[in-house]
Amino acid sequence: MSNGENRGAWGSKIGFVLAAAGSAIGLGNIWKFPYICGENGGGAFVLIYLVCIVVVGLPIMIGEIMIGRSTQKSPVGAFEDLGGKRSRWKIVGGMGVFAAFVMLSYYSIVAGWACHYTWLSISGEISGGDPKEVGAVFGNLYENTNANLGWHVFFMALTALVVLGGIQRGIERGARILMPLLLVMLSVLLVQATRQSGWDKALQFVFEPNTDNLTAEGILEALGHSFFTLSLGVGAMITYGSYLRKDSCLVSNSVAICVLDTVIALMACLILFPITFSFGMTPTAGPGLVFQNIPVALAQMPGSQFLCIVFFSLLVFAALTSSISLLEVVASYFIDQKKWSRKKATLVCTAAITLFGIPSALSGGTDLFGANFASAKESILGEEWGAITKGNWFDFADYVVSNWMLPLSGMLIAVFCAWRLGEKVRRDEFVRSSTLGHLYAAWLRLLQYVVPAIILVVLLHSTGVLKALGILD
Ligand code: TRP
Repeated sequence: MSNGENRGAWGSKIGFVLAAAGSAIGLGNIWKFPYICGENGGGAFVLIYLVCIVVVGLPIMIGEIMIGRSTQKSPVGAFEDLGGKRSRWKIVGGMGVFAAFVMLSYYSIVAGWACHYTWLSISGEISGGDPKEVGAVFGNLYENTNANLGWHVFFMALTALVVLGGIQRGIERGARILMPLLLVMLSVLLVQATRQSGWDKALQFVFEPNTDNLTAEGILEALGHSFFTLSLGVGAMITYGSYLRKDSCLVSNSVAICVLDTVIALMACLILFPITFSFGMTPTAGPGLVFQNIPVALAQMPGSQFLCIVFFSLLVFAALTSSISLLEVVASYFIDQKKWSRKKATLVCTAAITLFGIPSALSGGTDLFGANFASAKESILGEEWGAITKGNWFDFADYVVSNWMLPLSGMLIAVFCAWRLGEKVRRDEFVRSSTLGHLYAAWLRLLQYVVPAIILVVLLHSTGVLKALGILD
């Protein structure tokens, strides 16, 4: 099967890296990582997260891109091709499509917050530097269900527009300009952060592995987040890999994406925590962390209003390069498997995801999907699991997708790649045009044994199975 006309292919070698990095780098790095890092006590969590990236994330990323490039198909079709038409492996692809569907439905809410902040920066409503006032702005937005709904619809429409434009024109062009710009903006903020009085404390918080606050759920969260941030476990990289040219090195591309993604996540922490500590705020601010800290940081610089506009609009673009990859996963399932046109698939999927996101948009309120949902859940699951699975619908959706669905399908993808994919295809894909071909055996061992074992142990540990068996406490 070759790159047919309507599949499209990346226009250049760098196009793929940029777009895949664009998918990986998103709200996961700048919004989510710092706040879960804060909630889980910093250093030790960061260390575990880094181990997960290198030992679990990178090998699976190579595996996903490999599956995509060798079959030239999106996930369900790829498993069908490699595993046989009637193979149960198709279910893994289907699970991924479902996870992407749910994820985009709440991802878009957070992206909507970024849109709202861009708007507030333009109208000059958040250029002040008082942490209390800035914090209240987020609190109000969080509870404002109309604003959340409106921005959700807006952002989904934006995502659909890009995906409708097709591969090269839409995705690649945007990523090429805006990703580097994001890096520049973050570097400026980082320099500013080093001048804050809380800088030393922040460094200590992020890099000193203090296990006091680390729990089993924290470890699961670190593992889950390594999938979330690298866009793994839903077949996004299978889809993107199917557009990767045959003469590009799969391994070094994957390494580049992982490194870039990790650097940006750590930068975000080193930008946000100095502010947190300088102004006596707590690192456990939760989902509002980035929205409460950035305006305070920027208020200390000249041209703060302009910088706020730049920062939040870049955040919207970073979210957009990620959300398009999620929509692409869902839409390309219908394009490839159901033979829908790109237009029909994009429009129908966008509408469905937007509807499914409504409960998330309403989660900040006290009714149905907010506080009521949380207490209903608690009475069903019991207090302990009620707390572990977090509060409202939005938190719950993120918990289930990130901590359970992504690692689970990631594990199955690893098993597939290591045990079912033909040795010839696998080795050829890994070694072709590669300077890192000598790592093949090590990579394969990781994927065969280490990755499935780690994921299994973490999942079992989190369900309390290991504890019940008396293996770990
Ligand atoms: N990686 C993105 C982020 O960090 C989110 C994302 C985009 C994603 N596409 C994905 C996560 C596919 C999992 C699978 O914000």
